[in-house]
Amino acid sequence: MHPSIHSPINPAMSAPAKRLYIKTYGCQMNVYDSERMADVLAPLGYGVTDSPEGADLVVLNTCHIREKATEKVYSELGQIKLMKQEKAASGAGEMTIAVAGCVAQAEGAEIMRRQPAVDLVVGPQAYHQLPELIARAHRAKGERLAADFAADAKFDALPTTRNPTGVTAFLTVQEGCDKFCTFCVVPYTRGAEWSRPAGTILAEARSLAERGVREVTLLGQNVNAYAGEGGLAGLVRQLAQIDGIARIRYTTSHPRDMDEALIAAHAEVPELMPYLHLPVQSGSNRILKAMNRAHTAESYLELIGKIRAARPDIAMSGDFIVGFPGERDADFEATLALVREVGHAAAFSFKYSRRPGTPAAALPGQVAEEVKDERLARLNALLDEQQKAFNAAQVGKVLPVLFEKPGRHPGQLSGRSPYLQAVHCEGPAELIGQIAPVRIEAAAKMSLGGSLAASQTLEPA
Ligand code: 5AD
Ligand code: SF4
Repeated sequence: MHPSIHSPINPAMSAPAKRLYIKTYGCQMNVYDSERMADVLAPLGYGVTDSPEGADLVVLNTCHIREKATEKVYSELGQIKLMKQEKAASGAGEMTIAVAGCVAQAEGAEIMRRQPAVDLVVGPQAYHQLPELIARAHRAKGERLAADFAADAKFDALPTTRNPTGVTAFLTVQEGCDKFCTFCVVPYTRGAEWSRPAGTILAEARSLAERGVREVTLLGQNVNAYAGEGGLAGLVRQLAQIDGIARIRYTTSHPRDMDEALIAAHAEVPELMPYLHLPVQSGSNRILKAMNRAHTAESYLELIGKIRAARPDIAMSGDFIVGFPGERDADFEATLALVREVGHAAAFSFKYSRRPGTPAAALPGQVAEEVKDERLARLNALLDEQQKAFNAAQVGKVLPVLFEKPGRHPGQLSGRSPYLQAVHCEGPAELIGQIAPVRIEAAAKMSLGGSLAASQTLEPA
């Protein structure tokens, strides 16, 4: 699901007074933010709908990480503008258009200038101000751009009760980044590293558990830099105590912050799932240095060794960038060598995208697009092979599966293995929200198939 989700959030059950359409781009953090925007707007009578057509309020929750993601916003706005005009022409009232998220933060004024149909712009740390901004936009006066950097004010204003729509939920615990990798816009769009106090996180998790959530994924741009008491390991141990919470995951982590306590938690906390997204970006020390990653290929491999010693079955995932300025064939070969050494269950690889204002954008030795294409294809071929091999290795095993929803075919269920693989099998709908053992019989690149190993013997929560 990481980092290119383009999904509307779940529609509300009952017909609302005002219709809200939210489209989410980018990472899981944005998915969480979209849900929270819906929470903030619900008291104003807005209910979520799954189509922008005729909506009273359209929110585009945007991503700025690569050029392509950013450009999508402007083309989408062109479409939405036409719907706004149609709605007004048919006498069905006004459609308010809001741009939220990281593009809003980075180029809010530019958005208003390039697309006058936009009514308001709200950055990722300011969306608790949405009701006020909407009111101002409707009065057509006052500032319609909010781009604060104070995450604490936002979380203070958000309710800790949630209305989850499934058995898994995202939960933001940390935001921002102080690492300043030279390719990345995040320190500029999301601000400095900031951690939520544990108390409100635990309250939110309890509210999720009370409403049937069994798995929480803790989110942060540098989630393992969580600076509350006891660090992320301490938080995980406290969350594991909450009744109903059977599974805990976290993403995204930086190798620099993968401390001993967190590694130990992987060995000792059964609720902490054996899957780790730990981006390395490159296998070349020269490139890692130019990226300001503050680790080497060797130190990364050493770290993986420690993590695997603690949790031998851990499934590894990562992010990779090909074609960073100055990357030569030998550097790219070093990335392939590192990938071979690690063995990935999943991974995300990207062509370097030059982002205005970041140090790497000004570096000499920008790599030609064809070279990037070729390297990306070779890297993806290797990563695909590893993913297929990882999935194939599950065949014959019995895995505990958390069932999340009905499958595509009647009588089928869809769930996840501890390693985050999608698993499909036949089973009764009552199993949704439960963990049951599944014998894995087939593996494809993206999912596993199997049958209930013992339909009556369910795992305790
Ligand atoms: N170009 C390409 N990929 C990037 N990422 C971040 N910035 C860029 C960029 N300028 C990738 C990194 C990061 C993931 C979220 O996106 O791999 O881990
Ligand atoms: Fe995109 Fe980064 Fe913003 Fe997430 S935090 S939406 S990946 S720019």
